[in-house]
Amino acid sequence: MNIEDSVVLVTGANRGIGQAFVEAFVQAGAAKIYATARSLDSLQEVVAISPDRIVPLALDVTNPDQISAIAATTQDVTLLINNAGVSGTGGFFAPSTLETARWEMETNYFGTLNMIRAFAPILKQNGGGAIVNLLSIASLVNVPVFASYSASKAALLSLTQGIRAELASQRTLVVGVFPGPVDTAMAENVPLDKVPPIQIAQATLQAVKQGIEDVQPDPVSEQVFAGIRQDPKAVEKQFAGMLPQS
Ligand SMILES: NC(=O)c1ccc[n+]([C@@H]2O[C@H](COP(=O)([O-])OP(=O)(O)OC[C@H]3O[C@@H](n4cnc5c(N)ncnc54)[C@H](OP(=O)(O)O)[C@@H]3O)[C@@H](O)[C@H]2O)c1
Repeated sequence: MNIEDSVVLVTGANRGIGQAFVEAFVQAGAAKIYATARSLDSLQEVVAISPDRIVPLALDVTNPDQISAIAATTQDVTLLINNAGVSGTGGFFAPSTLETARWEMETNYFGTLNMIRAFAPILKQNGGGAIVNLLSIASLVNVPVFASYSASKAALLSLTQGIRAELASQRTLVVGVFPGPVDTAMAENVPLDKVPPIQIAQATLQAVKQGIEDVQPDPVSEQVFAGIRQDPKAVEKQFAGMLPQS
């Protein structure tokens, strides 16, 4: 797909990887970028990157009425970036696990599903376009220190595969991105090497241009993919080993 002249909508565009996507699309020559976030005020710095091409909009992906209203006013979108996401910490036996798990599923899974259901007809009317879902290496293997987050991202991988099949007939490219640790607020307490968010955005833009469906945007992602091809059980054990031993 051609990035130049595309009309992009990014969720969670006010910071982190979402803001990096806006920067990358400006550099790549996108015609218009709808930068969306829960708070319009939080988008001021992002709009300043290119005020003539960036349109700020308030959007909480867990609010179906707001999604419908935004979809009605952004009928020119050709590229949807489902970036908004949340992550709690801890395993499945923490006191707050059920509440955390529901919050993660509401945002990461149901929020993305609602966005896709609203925007698939728009992409169809505009010739097919593309959908990008921000998955994670935690979509491929459970990372027990982010247990329920991993489950929500695994559900999002299954969703990504399903919509890819269903939207093939309308020629919508469906891309899944599988980052390892990225240097944003979400991973601030992760004691591992992290790549800058712009690396994730640029690798994804290349994939969209080339029609690549599964994006491994950093070395950790490449290692996990290689490990799973070779010995998936060993990868599971490796991540299980990150838990403190009692
Ligand atoms: N950082 C990593 O290591 C890493 C690795 C793999 C995948 N990812 C994925 O990459 C995506 C971006 O993460 P990030 O690292 O940039 O995290 P981040 O810095 O914590 O940013 C998360 C973004 O999501 C937005 N958001 C949260 N709930 C929302 C909702 N209900 N509606 C709309 N926006 C909402 C946040 O907005 P507010 O400012 O309003 O909270 C913020 O813009 C996520 O899907 C994440 O799971 C991150």
